[in-house]
Amino acid sequence: MINQITEKKPKAFSNILLHLHPAAVSEESISFTRTFGLGGMAALLIVIQFITGILLRFYYEPFPQKAYDSILILHNNVLFGQLVRNIHHWSGVFLVLIVFLHLLRVFLTGAYQSPRQVNWIIGLILFALVIFSNFTGYLLPWDQLAYWAVTVSTSILQYIPLVGNSLREFVILGTEVNAETLIVFYTFHTAVLPILILLLMAYHFWRVRKSCGVIIPRSELPKTMVPTYPNLVYKEGVVALTLIALILVFAVFFNAPLLERANPSFSLNPTKAPWYFAGIQELLMHFHPFFAGFLIPLTLIILIAFIPFLKYEQSPTGIWFVSDKGKKSAKLSVVFAVAITIFLVLLNEYLINFEMLLSWLSPVISNGIIPLLIVLGIIWIYSKYITKKFKLSFSELVQSIFVLIITSFVVLTLINIFFRGTNMQLTFPWNL
Ligand code: HEM
Ligand code: HEM
Repeated sequence: MINQITEKKPKAFSNILLHLHPAAVSEESISFTRTFGLGGMAALLIVIQFITGILLRFYYEPFPQKAYDSILILHNNVLFGQLVRNIHHWSGVFLVLIVFLHLLRVFLTGAYQSPRQVNWIIGLILFALVIFSNFTGYLLPWDQLAYWAVTVSTSILQYIPLVGNSLREFVILGTEVNAETLIVFYTFHTAVLPILILLLMAYHFWRVRKSCGVIIPRSELPKTMVPTYPNLVYKEGVVALTLIALILVFAVFFNAPLLERANPSFSLNPTKAPWYFAGIQELLMHFHPFFAGFLIPLTLIILIAFIPFLKYEQSPTGIWFVSDKGKKSAKLSVVFAVAITIFLVLLNEYLINFEMLLSWLSPVISNGIIPLLIVLGIIWIYSKYITKKFKLSFSELVQSIFVLIITSFVVLTLINIFFRGTNMQLTFPWNL
């Protein structure tokens, strides 16, 4: 039910509200399925991270001899210490997932096109900052999981041509993860990154208002304006409380992981990267490291950043999947991506190993250029096929290829997390 009358509300509350929202919003823009509240959820999770992070700082000590013990003290001697750590851990995980879903929502409603391109780029930077926050936080407990996950992920940097080794040494301040790495990660985690996130988030919100709120399909104009309070604020309240309840349930029932104290001379088997880098680690199992750790991720990031600046014949629609055929072809892309990714992983694991098969060639060719050309060939044939089958416009085609690549990346991530066991061999999750 839309409420046309502004209810009486405290003045301080209304001032805060007016900084975040206009006094009135269009009735069409506040339907839940328009945004699923994902941007707001991401903002709430960041606030939760800031509050729990500040609480953790009272006990945490960023030195190798003390960090692990400070976590144990937090667990055993501090009232609700373990709970606060669990909330910080699970909100960090949810934050990455929710920001990823928000990116998909923005993309699939075409909200990246003019006048919202700048917010797409700001959003991508925010996403990177959220990943860095998670990554720098990962090291802080200084247990085996933290130490070896950071060691294996930063070693991916080595594969960047020319500057790789120096870059890795610059990031971890030495040839291996050490006391200085911990203090620098801690400073970035608790000071530099939070400040950058706050500033960019404020700018992101301002740009949403500058574009007159979220995107709405043209067919749903003209707008009916309704007061923001209570119409939008109540909905946001319900979403916020549901999310908080969900995180509390996770925090109460599932503890944040903590293995033995970090031991630089005894590595874990398997040594896995943090879960948000698992897709790249899986790519490393199938491509030459220069391709898996550098060329492919970098090209994809550049392509994603450029999506709003391509020339589309359709202006942004605000309609999910652009059109009915856009939806059908995106669905087909999901199915195709799941099938082909699993097929190629199995093929490479058990049947065709180009590096061995073509051992007279340089690995850059046999395990880099050749498999990459095969993958590009598959994408090319697939895009020809769907363009003909569904008579796709350019924006629908871009959407389908984006869905194909993102789904494939998600499948690779899941394979690495749930199906790689000792020595990174493929196995079933119950044998891990
Ligand atoms: C976007 C924001 C943030 C994210 C995504 C994030 C994420 C994380 C993660 C994943 C951990 C490792 C937790 C674990 O052991 O599993 C961690 C630890 C930690 N974070 Fe944050 N954090 C954020 C903001 C902050 C802020 C603003 C502070 C303090 C001002 C903070 C202070 C800490 C401290 C002291 C630890 C070490 C204690 C522990 O490992 O539980 N964090 N963070
Ligand atoms: C910390 C991460 C982020 C936060 C807190 C955030 C927050 C928000 C909020 C609250 C909105 C208003 C509507 C909504 O809820 O969807 C919004 C809109 C928007 N966001 Fe984000 N966002 C984040 C990351 C991203 C990312 C990763 C992207 C894309 C790469 C992005 C691109 C956009 C765009 C283009 C809009 C305008 C959408 C429209 O007009 O319909 N944001 N964001």
